[in-house]
Order: sequence, then C-alpha cells, then structure tokens
Amino acid sequence: MSNPERRPVFHVTPPSGWMNDPNGFSLYKGEYHLFYQYHPYSTAWGPMHWGHCKTKDFIRWEQLPCALAPDSEYDGQGCFSGSAVEHNGKHILMYTSVREQKLEDGTRLIRQTQSIAEGDGINYVKAEQNPVILAEMLPEGSSLADFRDPRIWKDKGVFYSVIGSRNADGSGQIALFSSADALEWQFERILDRSENRYGSMWECPDFFRLDQKQVLIVSPQLMRAEGLEFHNGNNSVYFVGEYSDESKEFARKEAHVIDYGMDFYAPQTVETEDGRRVMIAWMQSWDNYLTPEDADWSGVMTIPRELFLKEEKLIQVPVKELEKYHTEEIAYQNIRLEKGDGTVKLAGVEGRIFDMTVEVQDNGFGSFEITLAADVKNKTSLIYDSKKRTLTTDRTYSGLVRDVVSTRSMYVDTYNDKLSLRILMDKYTLEVFVNGGEQAMSTLIYTDLSAADIGFSCDGKTVFSVKKYNLDIG
Ligand code: FRU
Repeated sequence: MSNPERRPVFHVTPPSGWMNDPNGFSLYKGEYHLFYQYHPYSTAWGPMHWGHCKTKDFIRWEQLPCALAPDSEYDGQGCFSGSAVEHNGKHILMYTSVREQKLEDGTRLIRQTQSIAEGDGINYVKAEQNPVILAEMLPEGSSLADFRDPRIWKDKGVFYSVIGSRNADGSGQIALFSSADALEWQFERILDRSENRYGSMWECPDFFRLDQKQVLIVSPQLMRAEGLEFHNGNNSVYFVGEYSDESKEFARKEAHVIDYGMDFYAPQTVETEDGRRVMIAWMQSWDNYLTPEDADWSGVMTIPRELFLKEEKLIQVPVKELEKYHTEEIAYQNIRLEKGDGTVKLAGVEGRIFDMTVEVQDNGFGSFEITLAADVKNKTSLIYDSKKRTLTTDRTYSGLVRDVVSTRSMYVDTYNDKLSLRILMDKYTLEVFVNGGEQAMSTLIYTDLSAADIGFSCDGKTVFSVKKYNLDIG
C-alpha cells in the first residue's frame, strides 16, 4: 500500500502508521477538525498519539501536524480517544491520559484519567492541571482502569462531558461530569448503564439532540450476536431517548446497531454551521482488522454522514457536499434481467471510485446480486435475498488472504416492492445506504485495483435501474 495510487481519495487515511478512532471532530474557526488515534511509527496499534487533519467540506482533507503525543508522566502510555470544543477563540481538546506502572510485585497498574489540551488549530499545549478527572470521582465499585473517551460539549456557558466506564457489575456505564472552565470537574450522575445487557465496557460515547430527541451512541466491547442486529465482538449502537436538562436524567429505549457492515467502530459527531449533525467512524474492526503486509499505513474513516431520525430510527446519508464532486452521470432505466442472462455488465458502469444508486424491483425472485471490484478471480457481492428479505455483503473473493469474517447480513424492507441501494466506493471502501439511509453497511475490501468490473444477476426475473457518478476530487 505504499503506492499513493492505492490511497482512497475522499476518505481520511493517516499519512503513515496506524489509525483507529476519530477524535475531536469539531468546528473550530469555520473549519471542521478531525483528530484520530494515531501510532506514527508502525502499521500496528502502539502508544497513542493524536493525528490531525481538517476540512471545509468533509470531502477534501488537509493533513496537519500531530497534535498530542504520550510525553507526560500521566499519559506516557497513551493519549486515548476524546473530543474537542471551541471556547473563547481557543480549541479545547479533552482526552484520556493512560498511565501504566509496574509495581514492586511485578504486577502492572493501569490508570485511565481525563486530561485537557488547548490550542489554536495547529499547536496544542497540555494543561498544567492534568489529569483533570480521576476515576476515583466515579461511584464506588467503578473500574479505575477502564475509564475513557470523554465527549465534551458546552451548553449555556457550562461544559459537560460524558465518559465511558465500567460499573461494579463489570458492564458498561456512562458518567456525566460538568465544569465551569473545563479544568475543574464535578461528577453529576451515571447517565446510563448496560447492566450486562449490551456487552462489557462501553467505549466512545457521544450524546446529542437530534430532531427533538436525545441520542446516546456507545461502542460496547464483547457483545453477543443477536439475530442479524448485533454481531459478536465490538459493536457501535445508539439509544434514542428523552433527556432533561434540569434533572440530567436520560430515559431511553433499547439499542440498535448503527451500521451493519464488517468495518465500523467508535463513531463521533459534529454539529455543522448550518445545524446538521454529521457522523464519522473508523472503518475497521478490532475483531478482524487487517493491514496488507506491504502497506505503510493502516486505517480509514467512513464518509461523514448526515443524521436524521425517522420513527426513532437513525437515518444516515453521505454529506451533501459529496454531490459537488459528481462527474460523468450514467443512467439506465428499467433494465430487464433474468436468470438466463447470467452476469450482465452495463457500458460505463465500472470502476473503484463512484457513487451509484441501484433500484431493484422485487418480483419475488430468489436473489439479486451486484458484483463489485470484480474480474475473473475477484468479486465483492451485495446479495438481496427476496425470500429471506436480507441484504448480504460477501467479501470472500475480495483479495483477503487470511480467513476472517467475510459475510454479514441484515434484514431490509422494500417500498412499493422496490429496494434502493446507494453504493459508495473509494478503492478499498464499500459503503451501502439502503432505502435513503434507513440502514448502512460498511466494509473494507483488499482487492487489487485492476479488478473494477460491476455486474448484475438475478436467479428469477426482475427490472432494475442504475444511476452512477464518478467522483472527481481534484
Ligand atoms: C476504541 C478504543 C478507545 C480507546 C482507543 C485506544 O477503539 O479502544 O476506547 O480510547 O481505542 O486507541
């Protein structure tokens, strides 16, 4: 992956080394800043730094110097995930400082605390008061080692922060803190807890208003698969509820997964200048992350997505700014397809960087398949099974030479017997948005870029339409 031609063009990647969670996604002086968990020295996770980039439109990104390094006594083992907020012309970062000590008896003591840094959009200085929140401030029995990923915001002159933690029962909880100056913090309450229902430790919370409701996002570790909703391991889920500014109580419904794909974790959101809520996530998974051996960087972010609520379900749509980069529209209407046709290719419908919407008529066939990044040896399939009403991503033939999770499925709906799939590809990233963003499915593939065919097949009879744009990011 050292070849620059192998770098995705409109998705954030690190300049070199390893990247995981998005951090500090925030608006500062009219530009959107994105930091990320960063290990500059190898393509494997290591002592965490904060990488940094910024954008005006979520599509073209500019790399900036690394913002935080694990160079203090209290954060020597890592500057873990956190968030950012603009305050009096300054950019305030709040992150988890990790300290690991070897005790005399040989055991290791890990302490996670919260720290502050302040900067001007390029250079950041850690606060002298660090660490500003200790796990000892949590209710008794809470873990002192798992306490991380502060999400800071400001409301009516007061700073708030929600932070992931582990309750005495071992499972996740989210603690709410408040502060007048972002340096001296008070514990407010436990906002929510898993009570062993959703995985173990809850990582990377986000908490925001959306369409008159309140949304809590968390990324639980060690979840158990449930139907097609949750998969084993790390998931990212959301809860929709009501929040009282006064009592600070959050009453919520049950969790739903945010993205049904194989590669999506630790999302963060920002509110845009024009009031949109935009989410970005690490497009990889702790449970099967793979970096090709010849790569000199690892990690990619999702396309930033605008969020809405429809009947208390999260709708995700790629940011509208992407449309500015559409070129070469190709459209086909009502194409008839039946079993005997085999895999059909359409003139002009091919490539590895595109934004394509396919609408298929569900005539009660068995399955309809779209093959992407295909050639004689490779294909990545999206399979709609009309009997089971599922959509499956299958990357068995996508260049992975290790045996990892290769398929994932979700239930989908049709409207007037039609299923709509918006498919975004950026070389190695595949993101599918179903029925206008009702569901999303994000997956990485490793197929050589020369495999660029797109095909359509059906084991019954159907009619489908395609609209495809190439993307010219310049
Ligand atoms: C989530 C996470 C965070 C932590 C960071 C460390 O992916 O485990 O909880 O802060 O990654 O890199």
